[in-house]
Amino acid sequence: MIRLQHLHKSYLVGGSEVPALTDINLAIEPGEIFGIIGHSGAGKSTLLRCINLLERPTEGQVLVGGTDLTALPLEELQAWRRKIGMIFQHFNLLSSATVQDNIAFPLRLAKRPKAEIERRVSELIQLVGLEEHRSKYPAQLSGGQKQRVGIARALAAEPKVLLCDEATSALDPQTTASILALLRDINRRFGLTIVLITHEMQVIRSVCDRLAVIQDGQIVESGPVLDVFLRPQHPTTKEFIEQVEDSAELRDAVQREKAAGNRNIVRITFIGDKTYEPVLYETMRETDTSFAILQGTISRMKDTPYGQLVVNLNGTPEQVDETVRLLRSRGVEVETL
Ligand SMILES: Nc1ncnc2c1ncn2[C@@H]1O[C@H](COP(=O)(O)OP(=O)(O)OP(=O)(O)O)[C@@H](O)[C@H]1O
Ligand SMILES: [Mg+2]
Repeated sequence: MIRLQHLHKSYLVGGSEVPALTDINLAIEPGEIFGIIGHSGAGKSTLLRCINLLERPTEGQVLVGGTDLTALPLEELQAWRRKIGMIFQHFNLLSSATVQDNIAFPLRLAKRPKAEIERRVSELIQLVGLEEHRSKYPAQLSGGQKQRVGIARALAAEPKVLLCDEATSALDPQTTASILALLRDINRRFGLTIVLITHEMQVIRSVCDRLAVIQDGQIVESGPVLDVFLRPQHPTTKEFIEQVEDSAELRDAVQREKAAGNRNIVRITFIGDKTYEPVLYETMRETDTSFAILQGTISRMKDTPYGQLVVNLNGTPEQVDETVRLLRSRGVEVETL
């Protein structure tokens, strides 16, 4: 759906070119939710704005649905932009317009017939659950309600792609969850491709199919969310994953155990249905080993449940080896810490 090829972007600052993006290559497939995570100043917003050419790349190509947007004359580019909706951290609503007028705005701009606009606005208001607020002004709404208006407005022209620039960063965790649920619902119902940028791993974990990690204007790691979570390579990725896992506490526990002479500390990861099966218990019984739990979590990546246990295995070296071998053969990941 979206292909970024050898994308470079520099800004002219005080007469000299400062690079903001360096050789970005990304392929985002139709209907997926693709997350881009990075620290402040990494280049996330610049990258997102290059997708609809709000920011013109210095070099490289932006292909959307096979069309190279960088090569289009302005008029055609504007037609394409209507197929790419966008939502923002601070909502960017018209403060002097009501909810329904905010949503109708892009349709009026596109000079759609009045009856069609009315019908479409009603549909959208219902979709985002703002029926009781349609005549209110943005100042009379909560943050979550404002973002719902933003989403409805972005969907008004029936886009193929929705770009989300830190769309939940100004919201509390509960409201964030409800907005993410709405985005997932829209993604499923309409097959809408969503590109979502954030600095929160929690957001990536709960809705994205794949992600890319951006650092100093470069993609340093990318892949399916589950793979990147289980086998992060880049230090920045590891740092982001620590946001959602209590690794400081775990590090202390592992150090304590090692100091006490325990060498058989392993992290066991169960993915999918395995999470709820008694694989560990049965294996330990077979090899006649026991274990002490140092840490354990059951969590969810989008639709996939996964569990992680950090345990200290008690047994002879042979028993421990056999346990690890059996667990692996039963589709469980085992990593020695
Ligand atoms: N219009 C501009 N002119 C000059 N430099 C800019 C401009 N916009 C962004 N930059 C620079 O480009 C780099 C990337 O900025 P960008 O806004 O894309 O980062 P970001 O990852 O979205 O950060 P944040 O999480 O704080 O929103 C930064 O160093 C920033 O200072
Ligand atoms: Mg930004």
